[in-house]
Amino acid sequence: MFDILFVMIFGLSGRVLTKDTDTKGRFSSPVLDVTEKQLIIERNQTLQLNCRGRWELHWVLPSGVPKVYHGTQIEETQCGKKNNQYCSRLTLSPALAQHTGSYRCRYRQKQRKQASVYIYITDSQRPFVKVQSEIPDVVYMKEGEPLVFPCRVTNPDAKVSLVKFPFHQLAPDYINIIWNSRQGFTIRSPTFFYIGLFSCETIVNGVKYSNKFLTHRPVNKILDVYLNSTGLVHTLQGQMLALNCTVTAEWNARVSISWTYPQKANGSATIIRRISRSRTNMLFYSVLTIPRLSKADRGLYKCHVTSGPSKRETNTTVIVYDQPFIRLKHRDGPVVQASAGQKSFHLTPKLRAFPAPEVIWLKDGMVAAERCSRYHVDGFSLVIRDVAEEDAGIYTILTGIQQYGLYQNLTLTLVVNVKPQIGEKTVSSQQPGTVQRGSRQALHCTSHGVPPPQIQWLWHPCPPKGLSPARLA
Ligand SMILES: *[C@@H]1O[C@H](CO)[C@@H](O)[C@H](O)[C@H]1NC(C)=O
Ligand SMILES: *[C@@H]1O[C@H](CO)[C@@H](O)[C@H](O)[C@H]1NC(C)=O
Ligand SMILES: *[C@@H]1O[C@H](CO)[C@@H](O)[C@H](O)[C@H]1NC(C)=O
Ligand SMILES: *[C@@H]1O[C@H](CO)[C@@H](O)[C@H](O)[C@H]1NC(C)=O
Ligand SMILES: *[C@@H]1O[C@H](CO)[C@@H](O)[C@H](O)[C@H]1NC(C)=O
Ligand SMILES: *[C@@H]1O[C@H](CO)[C@@H](O)[C@H](O)[C@H]1NC(C)=O
Repeated sequence: MFDILFVMIFGLSGRVLTKDTDTKGRFSSPVLDVTEKQLIIERNQTLQLNCRGRWELHWVLPSGVPKVYHGTQIEETQCGKKNNQYCSRLTLSPALAQHTGSYRCRYRQKQRKQASVYIYITDSQRPFVKVQSEIPDVVYMKEGEPLVFPCRVTNPDAKVSLVKFPFHQLAPDYINIIWNSRQGFTIRSPTFFYIGLFSCETIVNGVKYSNKFLTHRPVNKILDVYLNSTGLVHTLQGQMLALNCTVTAEWNARVSISWTYPQKANGSATIIRRISRSRTNMLFYSVLTIPRLSKADRGLYKCHVTSGPSKRETNTTVIVYDQPFIRLKHRDGPVVQASAGQKSFHLTPKLRAFPAPEVIWLKDGMVAAERCSRYHVDGFSLVIRDVAEEDAGIYTILTGIQQYGLYQNLTLTLVVNVKPQIGEKTVSSQQPGTVQRGSRQALHCTSHGVPPPQIQWLWHPCPPKGLSPARLA
């Protein structure tokens, strides 16, 4: 399986790069004195690595080597023919199993230029780099990402198996289950099968060693957040406010809901939480209640939802009025005009009120909607369909909030304009008659319109006999 050349080394001291390669282009990266990709040493031996480069050097050691370790020594010298190179010697003594890992030498300033070697420090009593504590390590599963059981070993030849609790042994197939002594087991496409307790196991000299892992699949999908009133909430001082924030999330998800609101610092609200689950989803409710609203409670109310890295929020604005009110005014003065034949006409005064008032429209003192089937109330407007001359009149809107004994009314005059019409024109056109010269004649013209039309008479002399009217033009 591993046809990599393993080299046992015992004390690398004294092995320094012999050739002084100072030519341009060399040492663009630092160079280690070992050319192998990996080395195996035994516990208690001394590890020594030499690194050389054009600039100042810096070592990056495996996480198992403590930052402050009496056994770590670094000697830095100027080297090369002209003393213009940097050499660094790392000594680790004694080397211990937990120091197994990648040793890297890089330039202090150009961190991407580096040389590395993987060192295994074998210890028959410590086959795994990490010693198992009482509690299994938690390994998080992420959707679409491979799952890694990080049971690195101190000896590349270790025979390690992956076991699902209690005794389902999984052999690496190098398709989905991959073993790598430097990483542990990797599951390329983990399924639900990989949720549970697992262990990496190996037997050395008849003793079984293991590294246990508990896999956890965090569920963080927030499907929907719903506040039972969005937009504006109008309310009165002294009344109760209740807002219900409902979160729909994936089954098994954990969700936290919090609120921000104007009087949060005073803690004026009580918040009740509930969870329920349906067959497919989880429902989380958070109901914020303020039993007696004051003016200071007006403002923005936000429901924040988080589930792991997922976040959502929704909000509503609460308006708190001191007291109930009705404000009723003319929009464009007390007289409004419509035209006969108009498809529809809206009588809409300016009305602001809280709570919502009852509205009745009167026409000439009688309930409008009962007077004519073409009248109906839409919101608080009166709508007149197919406007006719008879719709002209006095309209009154009565508004009232009975609960608080508030009433207001407003009167409007509707003028319906009618295009002038000449009555005689509707009768068949009169033939020019003959009348006796010198006699007295009366010509009649009857017209109707709103406002009343003005009548003007014009006289056209008749064309002289024998001339056609066309020639005259
Ligand atoms: C390493 O040294 C420790 C103490 O110095 C000793 O107990 C242990 O047996 C040694 N291990 C090996 C593998 O030589
Ligand atoms: C909150 O609203 C949901 C509907 O969106 C409802 O099922 C639930 O009972 C409400 N919670 C409370 C405490 O009223
Ligand atoms: C929102 O839900 C709460 C609690 O269920 C309820 O008391 C309140 O009346 C609801 N508000 C609206 C505007 O539906
Ligand atoms: C809320 O706190 C503010 C100052 O932080 C204070 O002026 C106000 O009276 C408090 N309101 C209530 C209802 O306690
Ligand atoms: C409130 O919510 C609306 C839409 O739900 C959003 O457009 C708006 O930015 C939010 N306002 C604040 C202050 O968060
Ligand atoms: C309209 O209001 C006035 C006072 O604002 C009141 O005197 C009158 O009776 C009201 N008219 C109707 C029809 O309610």
